Amino acid sequence: MKDFDIAAIGELNVDIILDGIESEPEIGKEKFASKMTVTLGSSTAIFAANAAALGSRVCFVGMVGRDSFGTLVKESLQARGVDTSYLIEGETATGATVCMSYGEDRANLTYQGAMDVMGFDDIDKSVFDRTKHIHLSSLFMQSGLLRDIDKILDLAAAKGVTVSLDTQWDPIEKWALDYRKVLPRITVFMPNEKELQALTGASDLESAIAAVTPYLGGAMLLKCGSDGSILVRRDGSRVVLPAFLNKEVVDAIGAGDSCNSGFVSAFVKDLPLEECQKAGNLTGAVNTTASGGTGAFTSLDAVRKVCRERFGTELPL
Ligand SMILES: Nc1ncnc2c1ncn2[C@@H]1O[C@H](COP(=O)(O)OP(=O)(O)O)[C@@H](O)[C@H]1O
Ligand SMILES: [Mg+2]
Repeated sequence: MKDFDIAAIGELNVDIILDGIESEPEIGKEKFASKMTVTLGSSTAIFAANAAALGSRVCFVGMVGRDSFGTLVKESLQARGVDTSYLIEGETATGATVCMSYGEDRANLTYQGAMDVMGFDDIDKSVFDRTKHIHLSSLFMQSGLLRDIDKILDLAAAKGVTVSLDTQWDPIEKWALDYRKVLPRITVFMPNEKELQALTGASDLESAIAAVTPYLGGAMLLKCGSDGSILVRRDGSRVVLPAFLNKEVVDAIGAGDSCNSGFVSAFVKDLPLEECQKAGNLTGAVNTTASGGTGAFTSLDAVRKVCRERFGTELPL
């Protein structure tokens, strides 16, 4: 019996969200925002918090600095039921994103800090013995992890740990990851449509799916926004599952991470992949019913209730 169902390996940062900004920033001028929220950011943290809310036993492997933002990150994860004993405190400051809100749109500016530093050597390897599954996310935001991805995947394979990967978007759009080498060691690959096309350099979605299919270690959950998702197996077989459509979306921040959390929480319970896909589409949809990435994930019962009452179906968890 393992101590954890999921070890989430990824980035950690604080979001400093500025609202009610009078006009866009200008060099050499001072302007005011009327509201500020300082909160746990990071897409891997949304994944971890929501997987914990869904009942998975989750620990986080990530790096923060020895500073007050690091404390905020750690305490926020703990408050959401995520084990923080594998957090690493390094010499580099905790990452932060300044989010300037202009109506629906946001201009973000990120200092990566500690997240960019963490590599294989920093990680306490006992986690590979204590977890059933590893979820890796936001690779292109973390150059240390990207550099050491082979070491992580080799050790996971040696320990019989299954792995899911959501690379997320590459902010510098270099896509410096050889999917032919990496994907065979990934149990479930979880990109969205834009990311898959960019990673493969394919001109259309069908060619992108065809490019990765022969290299899949197990399966791909291709996330298609309000169109739902496509489950692709290594043998090329597919299951297309439309979204549990929410016509009154509050916001879609973190929908992909929430979808990952539902899929992986079902996967670690050894449910069939189609049930995992349904759990993912449902938790993605549930995400859009409240603000932010974790607003709708207050408890497993609360998520079950939204599934039943808003989407007319049972969460398979
Ligand atoms: N408007 C919506 N209504 C219902 N479900 C949605 C909606 N938008 C997204 N989802 C669900 O969330 C999943 C992930 O969202 P998506 O936007 O594709 O991910 P990402 O954030 O990674 O781009 C989708 O596969 C879908 O099942
Ligand atoms: Mg995503």
